[in-house]
Order: sequence, then C-alpha cells, then structure tokens
Amino acid sequence: MGSTVKIATDDGSVGHHGFAADFLEETPFDLCYACGPKPMLKAVSKLCKQMNKPCWISLEERMACGIGACLGCAVELKRSNGESYYGHVCKDGPVFSSEEVVL
Ligand code: FES
Repeated sequence: MGSTVKIATDDGSVGHHGFAADFLEETPFDLCYACGPKPMLKAVSKLCKQMNKPCWISLEERMACGIGACLGCAVELKRSNGESYYGHVCKDGPVFSSEEVVL
C-alpha cells in the first residue's frame, strides 16, 4: 500500500528495541496504529495528541459472549462533545480512535 511500517518491541525481538512512545518521539510518522498494554497505549495516545497525529488503538479485554450481551468487555469511551459512555470492545471495537477511549 506504499506505507512504511516501523515496529518497536520492548525486548528488541523485532524493530526498535525500547518503548514505542520513545520511538515515536524520534521517528517521523503520519499515522499510528498501536496494540499492547494500556500504559503503552496511554503514552502513545498522549504523544500523538501532542503531535496532532491520528492514532488508532486496538484494545484487549476478556470476552465471554463476543456479541455485546455480557458486558464483560465494557470500556469507558467519550464522544466528541466530551460526554462519556460505556462501549464494548467486542461489538464496537476492538480498534478505536485514541481520541474516543478513556485510558
Ligand atoms: S464479550 Fe460480552 S459484551 Fe463483549
């Protein structure tokens, strides 16, 4: 698709050895897709917001039903007007704009 993919891993097994947020600070990019632990997603989302770059994050939650019935994967989200509500990772995600997730 003509995109350059840059990868960072904590253990250095693939790509940059170190924290993803640190890597982003020193690497030019247009768009960020991230998956992993919430502290990392929080750091990456904060950095992208500071740099005015779009960021999409994939959330991981325990899922029992997978259809939005059990509420086991509920996460706090926010609308563009700042109002918060709960959505479901299984039904509404798992990929969300970092702007709409309360981390
Ligand atoms: S897994 Fe049951 S609501 Fe998402």
